[in-house]
Amino acid sequence: MARAHPDGIVDLSIGTPVDPTPAVVRAALEAASDAPGYPQTWGTPALREAVAAWFARRRGVPGVDPDGVLPTIGSKELVAWLPTLLGVGPGDLVVHPEIAYPTYDVGARLAGATPVPADGTAQLGPAAGRVRLVWLNSPSNPTGRVLGVEHLAKVVAWARRHGAVVASDECYAELGWDVEEVPSVLDPRVCGGSHDGLLAVYSASKQSNLAGYRAAFVAGDPALVRGLLEVRKHAGMIVPRPVQEALRVAISDDAHVAEQRERYRARRTVVQRALDAAGFRVDHSEAGLYLWATRGEGCWDTVRGLAERGVLVAPGEFYGAAGARHVRVALTASDAAVTSLAARLA
Ligand SMILES: Cc1ncc(COP(=O)(O)O)c(C=O)c1O
Repeated sequence: MARAHPDGIVDLSIGTPVDPTPAVVRAALEAASDAPGYPQTWGTPALREAVAAWFARRRGVPGVDPDGVLPTIGSKELVAWLPTLLGVGPGDLVVHPEIAYPTYDVGARLAGATPVPADGTAQLGPAAGRVRLVWLNSPSNPTGRVLGVEHLAKVVAWARRHGAVVASDECYAELGWDVEEVPSVLDPRVCGGSHDGLLAVYSASKQSNLAGYRAAFVAGDPALVRGLLEVRKHAGMIVPRPVQEALRVAISDDAHVAEQRERYRARRTVVQRALDAAGFRVDHSEAGLYLWATRGEGCWDTVRGLAERGVLVAPGEFYGAAGARHVRVALTASDAAVTSLAARLA
């Protein structure tokens, strides 16, 4: 329906970057393009050290052990395979946020484990003993909610009491708007300075417009990472050498990230105003690349109403039953598309 609009579709339904990959990153890829030999699954020492330096510089996390860093082929594959790689299986529970990126559920199912959507640990009851993995996602896709230090610390303490691993998907961490900070699960205030049982997952896709490269990493407990490395090495889950180099440069250069942030900030202002003027309420959305909006009706009615104006958004129901009255509006559209959104909603 949206595509049939006389002025064409404004597609705000997916979070794929649309701005150019920064020149500094493309140059790094090209400079490393002579790569006749097999790359190291673990990543080059220079890459792992750059990740540790990034945590210290950008996330307030000193002391990440470069031995506890592992590059991944984008973070989606890691999210999908982590339960399997950790040896989680039938009878085990994988907890993930109630309103969530669908791959946490997919990954639990691939491992033969049971996905449990739960935002609090209290609601798990006697099943708590079977939880092997707890996924956190802050800032959240789709809601943009950011979990504070206290909340993260509670989850970590609970998981440690129950022998579960906490994996925190933090791929929107550089995109905080109405929030003082976006703490990592590896933050010493959260974990007491020990990374035991903890993994932070980060992707350069969003901050550096290189989703097409597939460049991300997982970092935290060196013993857990060692286990992931053992399996991934033998399964051929290896980040190409030129991409390792592009990733190293992407997380070592803050200037292009700041520039991209400002692009998104400007678009976010336009989209937020357009939604406000059209009678939407935007919930959470204090960080990340989406506005989580509602018009107080079922999400499919909102999707239809917007499609009639040539605008495509994602129905909240895609992210869990609790999202049934919201839609997710992505900020990953060109300036022209965002400007035309405002006109169409007016
Ligand atoms: C919460 C979350 N995790 C992981 C990913 C995967 O990102 P990538 O595979 O590009 O690193 C996305 C992508 O949209 C996401 O929203």
